[in-house]
Amino acid sequence: MLEQVTKVHDESRQGEAYAPVAGESQTYTKKFYIESYGCQMNFNDSEIVASILKEEGFGPTRNVEEASLVLLNTCSIREKAETTVRKRLTEFRKIKQRNPELLVGVLGCMAERLKAKLLEEEKLVDMVVGPDAYRTLPALIEEAETGQKAVNVLLSREETYGDISPVRLDSNGVTAFVSIMRGCNNMCSFCVVPFTRGRERSRDKASILQEATDMFNRGYREVTLLGQNVDSYYWVSPDNDNDITTFANLLEAVALISPLLRVRFSTSHPKDITDDVLYTMAKYENICKYIHLPMQSGSTRILQLMNRTYTREWYIKKVDRIREILPGCALSTDVITGFCTETEEDHQDTMTLMDYGQYDLAYMFFYSERPGTLAARRYQDDVPEEVKKRRLSEIVDLHRAQSLKSMQQDVGKTFKVLIEGVSKRSEDQLFGRTDHNKVVVFPKEDFRKGEYIWVKVEDCTAGTLLGTSTGRA
Ligand code: SAH
Ligand code: SF4
Ligand code: F3S
Repeated sequence: MLEQVTKVHDESRQGEAYAPVAGESQTYTKKFYIESYGCQMNFNDSEIVASILKEEGFGPTRNVEEASLVLLNTCSIREKAETTVRKRLTEFRKIKQRNPELLVGVLGCMAERLKAKLLEEEKLVDMVVGPDAYRTLPALIEEAETGQKAVNVLLSREETYGDISPVRLDSNGVTAFVSIMRGCNNMCSFCVVPFTRGRERSRDKASILQEATDMFNRGYREVTLLGQNVDSYYWVSPDNDNDITTFANLLEAVALISPLLRVRFSTSHPKDITDDVLYTMAKYENICKYIHLPMQSGSTRILQLMNRTYTREWYIKKVDRIREILPGCALSTDVITGFCTETEEDHQDTMTLMDYGQYDLAYMFFYSERPGTLAARRYQDDVPEEVKKRRLSEIVDLHRAQSLKSMQQDVGKTFKVLIEGVSKRSEDQLFGRTDHNKVVVFPKEDFRKGEYIWVKVEDCTAGTLLGTSTGRA
């Protein structure tokens, strides 16, 4: 994530290949190349895959030409995500013609959605591996090496890869992501995730705490806890039925690792985020005051068709509650325009709810029907594409104005910033993030990444705050 933002879906990283850790790639005889698409959890899965492959003697490479194994960790969330992967496969066809020994594997949500059908449609693919089957990769590779096509798309009710320590290949050494659960039990009617990722399950609390503590000890200063619906995290100790950990408890435990470790999380479903979570956030300075609260639509009628299980009024009350317990808390959201039967009036409801939320960041999409989902089976995708796109551009314009205003309001203020690295603008400048996850660029002086400093903001662009440090924090 070149400019790392706490979000589940990050367009800027789509298709990014992993870089080997300096000096490490030489020690492996076999090399794999992996590209990741989709949400942050998928990127995190690629790090688990890297860890499994490392045990098999495979080292990572960013150069596809020197790889004996090429993997695409794919996303199915919208049709466009799948089209991008299909195009990439066409490009790999040429490489495979030059190097017939090359094994090509499709991992992730598209593998799960299409299963063995993918082998018929894309002849160059040797392996199709679903998100819960990565432990079987070594066996599948062996099978594929004998010339057989290898498929494992079994979903699991237990798998969390909790014991596997992800290989942080492309990391800045300061911020990292930790998956705390997998799957999703909600049935939002537009969404393919419950089909591609299976049932929701929470990861062992001890393994989460151990991973976060290890990272802190290795110099990391920020963790983002990841799940499709983090507020439904629920862990019962195997030794004691009364020892229950909720998301609020987990958040507190991670915050207690060190006051120098920033904690973020994503995603919160508006129906599930509790006062307990909000009070825990208020209690610890190192839990960032930033909540990703996807609204999807501002119309109660559309929300019902989407099966989001909350109304416009409920959503507004949640926003009010957040502002009451956490004054000034930053909010971000996801919006879909042009869902089945959406009228201009529904669209206006989304516009006014966007206005109410005053989001610092929003991920906005037009509806893309996904085969097999509740919406695809029940409703007609009846909003014409040009209407979906026009509504989307209205939402985007509104959001741009709002986020620019939010940036401008920060000029003149001083923020605590965690330094992440050298700025893309100039070698003499560093960049970091505020608690509200805004990027700040400032002169390097003698500061180093991983440090906390105070920065007084003097100017801004639409996406970046510019300032000067007033000293270490
Ligand atoms: N678990 C998260 C969402 C994960 S998917 C949540 O519940 O909010 C990320 C975003 O993609 C969703 O919030 C939604 O806005 C968008 N999305 C999902 N399915 C979509 C579809 N069929 N068409 C367009 N956008 C979609
Ligand atoms: Fe999809 Fe809804 Fe689950 Fe999010 S909560 S992953 S939108 S089904
Ligand atoms: Fe994530 Fe895309 Fe799958 S958003 S869960 S990779 S469908």
